[in-house]
Amino acid sequence: MEESGVTEETKFIHRPNARVISQTQPTRILIANAKGGCGKTTMATNIASYFATQGEETAIVDYDPQGSSMDWLSARDPHLAQITGVAAYKNQNPNSTRSYSLRVPPTTSRIVLDTPAGLTGHILSDMIQASDFIVIPVIPSAIDIRAATGFIRDVLLSRAYRANKKPIAVVANRVKKNTLIYQKLERFLNSLNIPFITSFRDTQHYVRASEHGLGLADFEQRDAKDKLEWQPMLEWIEQQISLKLKK
Ligand SMILES: Nc1ncnc2c1ncn2[C@@H]1O[C@H](COP(=O)(O)OP(=O)(O)O)[C@@H](O)[C@H]1O
Ligand SMILES: [Mg+2]
Repeated sequence: MEESGVTEETKFIHRPNARVISQTQPTRILIANAKGGCGKTTMATNIASYFATQGEETAIVDYDPQGSSMDWLSARDPHLAQITGVAAYKNQNPNSTRSYSLRVPPTTSRIVLDTPAGLTGHILSDMIQASDFIVIPVIPSAIDIRAATGFIRDVLLSRAYRANKKPIAVVANRVKKNTLIYQKLERFLNSLNIPFITSFRDTQHYVRASEHGLGLADFEQRDAKDKLEWQPMLEWIEQQISLKLKK
């Protein structure tokens, strides 16, 4: 993608014949952090578009009443790799996170769960229970890192996590430059054995793509820097999926 952004002429990857029908339970990825604006929806939509362009039958489940993932999906060209949307925040039984599973097609192989800010307590625990692994985006500022530290503690202490430990990955988002602030976060994550997977720089590519219902994976030609930054994230995800399948 050029810095000039998304244009009407941009070529999209469209692989209608590449669909793989999964015979196993769908893989469910939870994108969460108690902080707003750290990139949960950006991660969720980009990961969903990655899965869809890989031929996976993909659903994005939006628990945020702001409905940003659903807005993203409604801006998405119907000719692109298809993604099912579930507005889980609507008509939701507040005590259940499981109702969404009734609303995704039975052949769905990948489910991405986008969540609201302020996630805590039993709702957080239920969402952890309803997922296979967790991605936590963090903006490398002192305030965000402190909030993320508290959130990670909440995750580790939740009933669902203690009953059934899930892989967790932290990614840094909107990184302007590699700052010393990382060291604090890195030390904390190292002490907990949580991998710090990758950093995504601050770029308008995400902003422009999101306005058009696109993820970076929808572009045939991706910016080399974006590709490099996404590589460790996608490798980690694929690794978790293959580990899960072996279980
Ligand atoms: N790496 C990035 N570079 C530039 N802008 C970004 C990046 N990640 C997210 N944004 C923008 O920041 C805003 C908040 O991101 P969003 O994904 O909606 O956060 P959340 O869902 O956690 O509230 C959005 O306008 C989004 O386009
Ligand atoms: Mg959001």
